[in-house]
Amino acid sequence: MADLSINLAGIKSPNPFWLASAPPTNSGYQVQRAFEAGWGGAVWKTLGEPILNVSSRFAAVSFNGQRVMGFNNIELITDRPLEVNLKEIYETKKRFPDRAVVASLMVEPKREKWHEIVKRVEDVGVDGLELNFGCPHGMAERGMGSASGQVPELVEKQTYWVKEVAQTPVIVKLTPNITDITATAEAAAQGGADAISMINTINSLMGVDLDTWNTIPHVAGKGAHGGYCGPAVKPIALNMVAECARHPRIHVPISGIGGISSWKDAVEFMLMGATGVQVCTAVMHHGFRIIEDMIEGLNHYLDEKGIASVKDIVGRAVHKYSDWGDLDLNYKVVARINTDVCINCNKCYISCEDASHQCIDRLTVENGKEYLKVREEDCVGCNLCSIVCPVDGAIEMIEIPSEHPPMTWNERQAVIGGISSCSVDVK
Ligand SMILES: Cc1cc2nc3c(=O)[nH]c(=O)nc-3n(C[C@H](O)[C@H](O)[C@H](O)COP(=O)(O)O)c2cc1C
Ligand code: SF4
Ligand code: SF4
Repeated sequence: MADLSINLAGIKSPNPFWLASAPPTNSGYQVQRAFEAGWGGAVWKTLGEPILNVSSRFAAVSFNGQRVMGFNNIELITDRPLEVNLKEIYETKKRFPDRAVVASLMVEPKREKWHEIVKRVEDVGVDGLELNFGCPHGMAERGMGSASGQVPELVEKQTYWVKEVAQTPVIVKLTPNITDITATAEAAAQGGADAISMINTINSLMGVDLDTWNTIPHVAGKGAHGGYCGPAVKPIALNMVAECARHPRIHVPISGIGGISSWKDAVEFMLMGATGVQVCTAVMHHGFRIIEDMIEGLNHYLDEKGIASVKDIVGRAVHKYSDWGDLDLNYKVVARINTDVCINCNKCYISCEDASHQCIDRLTVENGKEYLKVREEDCVGCNLCSIVCPVDGAIEMIEIPSEHPPMTWNERQAVIGGISSCSVDVK
């Protein structure tokens, strides 16, 4: 069995799976049950003020029969008094000394407010702090959460204030509601953050009721923008983690969050640079016990690969993520249809005809039976047909030898003396 333990900027946990700051970490009762189930750590539901919430506050999109593909909320931070949370954090840490207990914090952007809350939560024995600069609704309208998190100077300054007094590692949780997350990630690092975590939720409106014309969700007939999360946001979160991991000026560890529902998702985040991961929506959907599959699957994966420790996969795929200008322009794949398993549904034909390069031919053999064949010389290898094909193995994308040696856009431009690079660095 592989070693699953991690150490994120000095915060240790027996496995890389933490609960994200959210409803599943709202109380000692819940976090302790999660730890009993096997979770390696928990970021407590954000502490701060004011203590209020609305009803209703959640909505979800289902897609093609899959419930909770995306999830949205207009919930604020904890609605339980600070003293109650602190007492329960103390008890939880005492009962589970080997698990990571991190306090998520949000206060007004004032130095003394940060100093005060940091001291109070550190007194009860937390392993670390996570600064919530991500919540996009409610608190943001009052200058907190993503209102702070969208301004690099405010992220840096507040991180610095926290670091002035913090005795435990400080994680800065970033908002995805920004053009370039590396700008705020860099600001956090500049302010002294020991780690960054991403992503918090994405601004969203889940829907509108066609009969009542109310937003979904609504509060007495009125709606507000909410935060989007769940499986639908995973690609966005993964890109943001990867962009920070490969950034030359961001050298702090990353806690990956966003749409993680399985051990496979977690491995992807870790390969792309996350030291550990946090989970919210999947637990809200399926409960704490998904951790059993996550741990078993991760263990199995590492054993099969002959990897002794989960730490050894962190960042292993980062070098494969680059800029468009570094891609080989002469690499070529084409689609190949396996007529033995194809059911002649024509989905690939329609997609290629209407949305790609019209290079799938409908042919007929002598007995009158129709079949499809890709004209490989015209196929641009876009993958569309293989994406829409409902039958596994009916379309394979095959690499074909190139007549030319590898050459990237950046190399090409260097040779012909044009714009030298695709990447733009404005700093
Ligand atoms: C109902 C709800 C409440 C949340 N509350 C908080 C919060 O108090 N503090 C915080 O930092 N993030 C909060 N989040 C964001 C999650 O911690 C997490 O960043 C986000 O949901 C993405 O992860 P997921 O796709 O696994 O859900 C909340 C998310 C949801 C769905
Ligand atoms: S890969 Fe693209 S271009 Fe090639 S056959 Fe499929 S849809 Fe057409
Ligand atoms: S989409 Fe797949 S199954 Fe349908 S015709 Fe094309 S190859 Fe055959």
